[in-house]
Amino acid sequence: MKETPAKKPGEDPASEASLDGKPYRSPVVAVLGVGSYTPERVLNNEDLERMVDTSDEWIVTRTGIRERHIISEEQATSDLGIEAGKRALAQAGLSAGELELILLATATPDQITPATVCHIQRELGAPRAAGFDMNAACTGFVNALMTGHQLIAGGGFANALIIGADALSTITDYEDRESCVLFGDGAGALVIGAGDGPGVVMDHIVGMDGTGAEMIRVNAGGSRQPASHETIERREHFLRMDGRKVFRFAVAKICELVEEVTTRNGLSLDDIDLIVPHQANLRILEAARRGLGLDADRVMANVDRYGNTSNASIPLALDEAAREGRLQPGMLVILVAFGGGLTWGATLLRW
Ligand code: UT7
Repeated sequence: MKETPAKKPGEDPASEASLDGKPYRSPVVAVLGVGSYTPERVLNNEDLERMVDTSDEWIVTRTGIRERHIISEEQATSDLGIEAGKRALAQAGLSAGELELILLATATPDQITPATVCHIQRELGAPRAAGFDMNAACTGFVNALMTGHQLIAGGGFANALIIGADALSTITDYEDRESCVLFGDGAGALVIGAGDGPGVVMDHIVGMDGTGAEMIRVNAGGSRQPASHETIERREHFLRMDGRKVFRFAVAKICELVEEVTTRNGLSLDDIDLIVPHQANLRILEAARRGLGLDADRVMANVDRYGNTSNASIPLALDEAAREGRLQPGMLVILVAFGGGLTWGATLLRW
């Protein structure tokens, strides 16, 4: 993908380029590189058996998760994002000094202010880059990719590093067996740039429904309930969710989004080579796959080794698919996300 000749902003606006004669919905923005990083420390199901009343058998049967990676005491979300960003930049053949925009999707910032992306910019050595953090829970990466795409397509920036990074272990209650078995830490990143190329960002669908805000939440530590001794005693700084409701929402949303982004681009499901969904639970992925009538090899699943890494999960899975050779130039890929808020989104890519 690194051979892609990046065009200057505005050189190819609202491109007449097409996919097999079918029109793109958006101006042309190329995918230049992908990378990911997970911390070294591994927490497996046997470790969790010693921490809460659970079993490897229950976790594998109900979630498909076998292990997840957890940050060390010295690490924070930015450290994960920096490493993934470096790897994506290396693959894109772009130096950090050339970067114009960095967008970080995260639900677990290093601190409330400054934005975590500032730490990433400093450590990458990208002085020309503007940037900001975005929080749409597990949907954040798709929102950030859409934002970066549109900012480049609008002519304001020539390139962008889009990072999804989370350290969910820092808001996980390791006394709550329903949630603590699910989450892991990691980061993934995509470099995109103005111009056509073998990889192209084609379309996005995003949405939200704030009436579902209670379904996945961290109650304290924000302006509604600032941190206090009492909130800490009540363990309100940890993530809580209604797992069964989220499960049903997720399966329905994946199917709906995949069908919508496919049909509105004049494609059929048969045209799609790989779907890369947010990795929350293998049963969710399997139920959605069956609902769409797809074979297992067309839905990327690596939740067994990473758990739910929130904003990192899609770029982490995309990077793994690329390294496994499951993505070849020209293939059509759908990224599909759902998460707290409730929020959801899908991106159509030509690899
Ligand atoms: O990014 C989005 C974030 N969230 C999600 O994606 C979560 C989506 N939801 C899920 O993945 C599933 O709903 C869970 C994995 C959270 C739970 O699986 P489930 O099949 O929906 O189980 P359940 O909540 O219906 O619970 C079944 C039983 C309960 O016991 P009783 O009431 O039947 O006696 C739970 O107490 O399993 C029990 N249970 C556990 N048992 C052993 C719940 N967690 C555990 C556990 N180990 N870790």
